Amino acid sequence: MAIRGALALRKRQVLILFVLLGLSQAGPESVRYSVAEETEIGSFVGNLARDLGLGVEELSSREARVVSDDNKKHLHLDLPTGDLLLNEKLDREELCSSTEPCVLHFQVVLENPLQFFRAELHVKDINDHSPTFLDKEILIQISESTTIGTTFLMESAQDLDIGRNSLQNYTVSPNSHFYIKIRDSSDGKIYPELVLDRELDHEHEPELRLTLTALDGGSPPRSGKTLVLIKVLDVNDNAPEFPQRLYEVQVLEDTPIGSWIITISAKDLDAGNYGKISYTFLHASEDIRKTFEINPASGDVHLRSSLDFEVTQSYTINIQATDGGGLSEECTLLIKVIDINDNPPEVTMSSITKIIPENASETLVALFSVRDKDSGDNGRMVCSIQDDLPFSLKPTFKNFFTLVSEKALDREMRAEYNITITVADMGSPRLKTQHTITVLVSDVNDNAPAFTQTSYTLWVRENNSPALHIGSVSATDRDAGANAQLTYSLLPPQDPHLPLASLVSINADNGHLFALRSLDYEALQAFEFGVGATDRGSPALSSQARVRVLVLDANDNSPFVLYPLQNGSAPCTELVPRAAEAGYLVTKVVAVDGDSGQNAWLSYQLLKATEPGLFGVWPHNGEVRTARLLSERDAPKHRLLVQVRDNGEPPRSASVTLHVLLVDGFSQPYLPLPEAAAEQARADPLTVYLVVALASVSSLFLLSVLLFVAVRLCRRSRAASLGGCSVPEGPFPGHLVDVSGTGTLSQSYQYEIITWREYNCSNSFRRQRMVALQAKASKIKPRKRYELYLRSPAEEKSQ
Ligand SMILES: *[C@@H]1O[C@H](CO)[C@@H](O)[C@H](O)[C@H]1NC(C)=O
Ligand SMILES: *[C@@H]1O[C@H](CO)[C@@H](O)[C@H](O)[C@H]1NC(C)=O
Ligand SMILES: *[C@@H]1O[C@H](CO)[C@@H](O)[C@H](O)[C@H]1NC(C)=O
Ligand SMILES: *[C@@H]1O[C@H](CO)[C@@H](O)[C@H](O)[C@H]1NC(C)=O
Repeated sequence: MAIRGALALRKRQVLILFVLLGLSQAGPESVRYSVAEETEIGSFVGNLARDLGLGVEELSSREARVVSDDNKKHLHLDLPTGDLLLNEKLDREELCSSTEPCVLHFQVVLENPLQFFRAELHVKDINDHSPTFLDKEILIQISESTTIGTTFLMESAQDLDIGRNSLQNYTVSPNSHFYIKIRDSSDGKIYPELVLDRELDHEHEPELRLTLTALDGGSPPRSGKTLVLIKVLDVNDNAPEFPQRLYEVQVLEDTPIGSWIITISAKDLDAGNYGKISYTFLHASEDIRKTFEINPASGDVHLRSSLDFEVTQSYTINIQATDGGGLSEECTLLIKVIDINDNPPEVTMSSITKIIPENASETLVALFSVRDKDSGDNGRMVCSIQDDLPFSLKPTFKNFFTLVSEKALDREMRAEYNITITVADMGSPRLKTQHTITVLVSDVNDNAPAFTQTSYTLWVRENNSPALHIGSVSATDRDAGANAQLTYSLLPPQDPHLPLASLVSINADNGHLFALRSLDYEALQAFEFGVGATDRGSPALSSQARVRVLVLDANDNSPFVLYPLQNGSAPCTELVPRAAEAGYLVTKVVAVDGDSGQNAWLSYQLLKATEPGLFGVWPHNGEVRTARLLSERDAPKHRLLVQVRDNGEPPRSASVTLHVLLVDGFSQPYLPLPEAAAEQARADPLTVYLVVALASVSSLFLLSVLLFVAVRLCRRSRAASLGGCSVPEGPFPGHLVDVSGTGTLSQSYQYEIITWREYNCSNSFRRQRMVALQAKASKIKPRKRYELYLRSPAEEKSQ
């Protein structure tokens, strides 16, 4: 500054010196003029006449003229006045550029005599130029890593003016990174330098725009501007950065190979190659590398081979992102494989009991485990069996189940069960597995044999051949095998007297019954016994049934004449008074038949008579009566042959010879009534009672019983004289023992009863003689069942 100021002072001193010289010394000394550039044309510069010391006329006369060194007519000499005027506008910068001072030399030429005067015109600078930058925009590139204090030399501006009007200062628009520093160069010029004041950050501010202003020292100062575009150059100061450390993605197990899975994307704030990221799997296992691949440029992860949830449920992959500058960053990709229901449940049978006894309660049938390789709902299983079975499933340990019978089974109801175990998972679609177990129920002897009937009634005709098959009993057993194999047997009879073992036998295997001997209806009309059926179970079960054998009567007994007695030395002779009227009852033939029914239905017939037509026999009751009045002419002795016939098929018969003696006078009247019999019985202890009982058995049968008491005064004395009938002596029980069908009459009884009963059957009016019995005759066999005989009421009174 001080130097520059001293220099200006000296220039001024030189100029003043020349002007003083020019003014004071006329002659060869040059004359100096000064004018500011850009002064208007015609402006006055100086009076040459006066400055040269010449008169105005002399100038004109000597043809004074101004000749410039450069042959340009900058100046014009006004001859009349001698004034030197500007002939043109002078541009100092054009005339002298940067040369200072800017002097135009010219000569004033006078003729007559030729005379030269040297003169010079000093062109003075004015501030007519602004500083200018050559470029409207200056680009500079600065690395962001540049250290603070680094300077950047800027292009300088130009100002054609000189001196104070030339460039004096630079300023930069306010900013936070740079300030300007002016540098002086040795040639006196100044240069602007940008100084970095604060660190640049490409990532934050990749470029800055500053305005550089150049100022001159004019008054007023002029300025020129240029734009400084600062590009902040990136350095690899940023590693790639993942927006998240962990990526999580779920992939279905059945995702097709090649499918896109996820795109991993890291950011690198750096630009260019420093920001170019490539992706790789870091420390990835062989399995991961086989299964996935990553596109190094895009970060797209694709599936390379198929997934299997059951093998690997998730993959943890470290992914590294590396930029062009080698900086790297890692992130973790967690790929979760989502299960697809691709596995049906599996059933593994651990143990099976195929046969269970029928009465066992809660028996273990099977132990099995289930499993499903899938997970979640796909692996959740429901285990079931059919609803209608007496079995149930019980979960035991973990995934083990037991199949047990719920209650005791009944083989007879159902002997075989097909149990289908269905295991279904809860996936969609539901997959299921079935396993069928066939369980057989083994038999237990829990059923007793059962007869087809609780009682059997068998009919057989008497006089059968021995070993005749008379019928069968049959029983069934619902059990199986030996438990159902039956053995038939006869049970001991209730009546200890029944000789069952000699009567019937049973085939133990088939229940066929056989008569062991010929049966006799007259001895045994019916008998009853028990049969048993026993199975071969252990313990054996058995059951019983009753068998009732009814013997059918055959006509195997001939009628037997009870009265009159046929053998004996003194045959009984009937006495008939000659005065008897016709129809006088002579006697009554009493006969019995061991058979029953039709076979015992007897009819009487007079076969022969001494005097035919005198006596008649009533066919139905055997009464022998006179047919007409007797007369003196009739012979006293008569013999009658009466035949008794039964109604069997073929009929059997017996005959009896009656002796009748006609006597004079009247015989004791015949007493047909029970009262009479009773009276007679009281009158004579030897009189044999003939008791006819009134037996009433049912409402259907009106039983009227005619009591017939044949009382015969057969005193031995009379019998001796008259040949009367002989009647055995002995105790007389009064009435017969009712054995009610169960007892047996003892043969030792001494019965002397002759009875018959007359049934008045309402539907047939058939009169039927019933059984009479005489123990002494002993032709009558004891029977199991006998009719009930009662005393007549009159007789009861008489007792
Ligand atoms: C240049 O300009 C600045 C800002 O206006 C000023 O502070 C500085 O003094 C000036 N320099 C000179 C040499 O005039
Ligand atoms: C099943 O039957 C057998 C043979 O009858 C017997 O031994 C066993 O006690 C019975 N069991 C049950 C539970 O009733
Ligand atoms: C059980 O299954 C077998 C074989 O399929 C079949 O023969 C049998 O009849 C089935 N039994 C029942 C009780 O359904
Ligand atoms: C008649 O015969 C029966 C049976 O044969 C006999 O018991 C009875 O003594 C005989 N009577 C006479 C008198 O011979």
